[in-house]
Amino acid sequence: SAALHVAIAGLGTVGAGTLRVLSDQATLIARRAGRPVVVTAVSARDRTRDRGVDLSAYTWFDDPVAMARDSGADVIVELIGGAEGAARQVVEAALDAGRHVVTANKALLAHHGTELAARAERAGVGLLYEAAVAGGIPIIKALREGLAANEIRSVQGILNGTCNYILTTMRETGRDFESVLSEAQALGYAEADPTFDIDGIDAAHKLALLVSLAFGAPVDLAAVSVQGIRHVSALDIRFAGELGYRIKLLASGERLGDGIDARVAPVMVPLDAPLAHVEGVYNAVVTEGDIVGRSVFQGRGAGAGPTASAVVADLVDLARGHQVPVLGVPVEGLTQAGTAATPGS
Ligand code: HSE
Repeated sequence: SAALHVAIAGLGTVGAGTLRVLSDQATLIARRAGRPVVVTAVSARDRTRDRGVDLSAYTWFDDPVAMARDSGADVIVELIGGAEGAARQVVEAALDAGRHVVTANKALLAHHGTELAARAERAGVGLLYEAAVAGGIPIIKALREGLAANEIRSVQGILNGTCNYILTTMRETGRDFESVLSEAQALGYAEADPTFDIDGIDAAHKLALLVSLAFGAPVDLAAVSVQGIRHVSALDIRFAGELGYRIKLLASGERLGDGIDARVAPVMVPLDAPLAHVEGVYNAVVTEGDIVGRSVFQGRGAGAGPTASAVVADLVDLARGHQVPVLGVPVEGLTQAGTAATPGS
């Protein structure tokens, strides 16, 4: 049957990776999706940069918003990043033009997710974001589909690969935070502004989305209490180790009475807990459902391949005609939907 036509805005690591996966796996993807998934148009800041992929088959747009509006694609894939500016304009233009959107942009959704979800619903199109949380781990689909029979009690995870790499390397080498940071940046997993990683903001963006899905609350970034890893020393890590713990930047969301507690902070994790053994750039998520009990998801949370894997999974969903709710469906008994208790209160 007719191909699903895709336009990609932003050709950085993830954009180029997505083009590569769609072309290398074209036969497999077409079989899984029931029809071909074909890129028709692309847009990025610099047309001439060598990305190691051939762009000659795609219509080039200098202006990604014009592409979102005028390319005629069924789906706009937003991989520009950032909560405002071009990324936001592209997504709004695409939804208003009645096109599906696939995005890896956790910052955009953490800040404007509830409003964008309403926009998608009005337009009758999908807004999919598997790639926005924990990269290649299919945690959005797990919460939305696989765990649909459960009331979720808690969701907890290691959601920032850069921080987990830093903490792991500090432990293994005894070096201090400052000296490991530049190495982590060189891996290419850090945000454009690495303070988003280090200060826990990136993890908070992702947690806000998980909490919304798990508990059916509007996305509320302001309700997440955030503490990063800047002040964790090599000595802290060594002493924790001697006591039988690993220090991890944990993102946790929990139902507490009629509210939600959501926080990101460095935490002493006992060695008998699964999250203690998630090392390096890996991410992991642990969910507690009332029927299924504990589930543990682990995998690569950043980088071209894992993130592209999640973007393409969303495209396959759309090609099959799956129309899924953007955010969580409200759960009964949440009087203060989206508003976390202040820690300690
Ligand atoms: N900066 C993020 C990380 C990239 O290090 O996990 C993936 O969202």
